[in-house]
Amino acid sequence: MVVYIRGLWIIAIAFWSVLGERSEKGSNKLESRVSQLLEWNSRRSVITLSSDKFNAYVRSKPRNYSSVVMFTALKPGRGCSICKDAYDEYQIVANSWRYSNDYSSKLFFIMVDIDEDGVDAFQQLHITTAPTYFHFPPLGKRKPEDQYDVSRNSYQAEPLTKWVVERTGVPVNVMRPPNYTLLMIWLPVILLAFIIGYLKRENLHAIYEPKYWAIASMAWIFVMISGQMWNNIRGPPFAHKDPHTGATVSIGLVLLTFIRYLHCVYLHHRCIWLR
Ligand SMILES: *[C@@H]1O[C@H](CO)[C@@H](O)[C@H](O)[C@H]1NC(C)=O
Repeated sequence: MVVYIRGLWIIAIAFWSVLGERSEKGSNKLESRVSQLLEWNSRRSVITLSSDKFNAYVRSKPRNYSSVVMFTALKPGRGCSICKDAYDEYQIVANSWRYSNDYSSKLFFIMVDIDEDGVDAFQQLHITTAPTYFHFPPLGKRKPEDQYDVSRNSYQAEPLTKWVVERTGVPVNVMRPPNYTLLMIWLPVILLAFIIGYLKRENLHAIYEPKYWAIASMAWIFVMISGQMWNNIRGPPFAHKDPHTGATVSIGLVLLTFIRYLHCVYLHHRCIWLR
């Protein structure tokens, strides 16, 4: 009897310690995974993983972090012409998260390139086009919405971020580096105007002529109503969703026609003016 009870005890203790060890190992593994991801993330905002590492860090459980993964083919030989732009936009999203005040181990931005040991990962997820984006939630299974609809939303940082925020619940604000191109175009023009104004300062009585003011204001009005300005201010949407049917309509052509039309109106007015 005593031997029997002792045997039971030994079995119970052995079982308990195995269980304990296993759960401890599990959490250790989670902890080391999180700290490894944080370490990589401290060097790069987008973490590039091979198929093996993708399985070890993105898919293995348990986890307490979301991963957003871009599957891509950056090698020029692959002929993915938009992959480079998509990568730049993805980098903007990842940087916005990496340098935000809310940054934590809740969310990681990952990239798997088919030519950097990514073939297996592509096959596992049946991916045939690039770029493709997936969200891997911390708990539960992936839903259909956890795949980003590139053709409907474009790969631009803004819609991509909107999707990331929706899927992860983590606040991310896009921080786009400022665009210096416009400034570089306009700076010489403004400088030139100042220099000419300075050199001709004797003849400045021209600015009292109503004629010049009329020309300037007409020019201003034409620029403002030309639709180009509207595009500049608002940024043309890549595609526009029909509110009734929910179908995606590309409005590029419509806008182009509109701009052409305005140019005709403008030329017409100019002809009248010159006559
Ligand atoms: C996830 O778990 C690890 C290990 O327990 C912990 O260090 C980390 O802070 C957790 N992350 C979040 C977002 O809760």
